[in-house]
Amino acid sequence: MSYDTLLLARDGAVATITVNRPAKLNALDARTIDDLRRAMLELRHDETVRAVIVTGAGERAFVAGADISELAAATPVSGRGLALRGQHVFDLVEHLGKPTIAAINGVALGGGCELAMACTFRLAADTARLGQPEIDLGIIPGYGGTQRLPRLVGRDRAMDLVLTGRHVAAAEALAIGLVTRVVPAARLMDEARALADALAAKPPVALKLAMDAINGGLALPLADGCALEASLFALAIASDDMKEGTRAFLEKRKPVFTGR
Ligand code: COA
Repeated sequence: MSYDTLLLARDGAVATITVNRPAKLNALDARTIDDLRRAMLELRHDETVRAVIVTGAGERAFVAGADISELAAATPVSGRGLALRGQHVFDLVEHLGKPTIAAINGVALGGGCELAMACTFRLAADTARLGQPEIDLGIIPGYGGTQRLPRLVGRDRAMDLVLTGRHVAAAEALAIGLVTRVVPAARLMDEARALADALAAKPPVALKLAMDAINGGLALPLADGCALEASLFALAIASDDMKEGTRAFLEKRKPVFTGR
């Protein structure tokens, strides 16, 4: 499949999606959101892909947010549609069924921060800046930001970022739990690739079940979350990779996972 606004590259078991509108700091217009939707569906169904890196073209931006020229023309009805479409696409990212790594190579603002939060991991260049500056446009985050941000950093810090709209540098983003790791900018893609390779070598069924347990459980009371965990644990027990992983341990050799 081809995309107007994204580059999609596959190398072994790792796919890399690059949002490719550098002249607009990779802002997410309707076309880009739809390309992301189609790319996520393509990757979800591609069993050869076991980990996905998401990044932005150029040196300055991961993604500088939703496209403000489109927002400026929105009506309440079209604006609601815009938010629902973006939320749907970011749900696809979160529930891709394989790990996604946001390689945050520059500003991740508004929808850019929301896209990064929908990913499983956030690796930030030490030069990156993140934030939810929508308040200064007279709006609020609409692609899941008011919901995923407090789940990641807590209510008070989410209030701080959403109500002041301030940008945080990579070091502060790490300190508040908004990113997983900070690396020197020049090493970002190598580090993202190393993490993707490590994840691609894990048993994919167990990876998916672990992500389902963590993401699904966050929306549940503890007892219900533990019940979900037990069911998914039972499913993992049924996988060929579980038999291989335990047998390899007992035979003191490296496991060879087949993804079944
Ligand atoms: N939507 C549409 N266009 C955007 C954009 C966005 N979210 N963010 C940047 N751009 C465009 C600019 O309009 C400019 O285009 P032009 O050269 O055709 O005028 C180009 O990208 C470069 O941006 P510019 O603002 O000139 O760069 P800068 O280095 O001075 O500032 C930012 C960088 C990221 C601080 C600034 O672009 C910004 O604040 N962007 C908006 C962030 C935001 O509010 N996001 C949430 C949107 S809901």
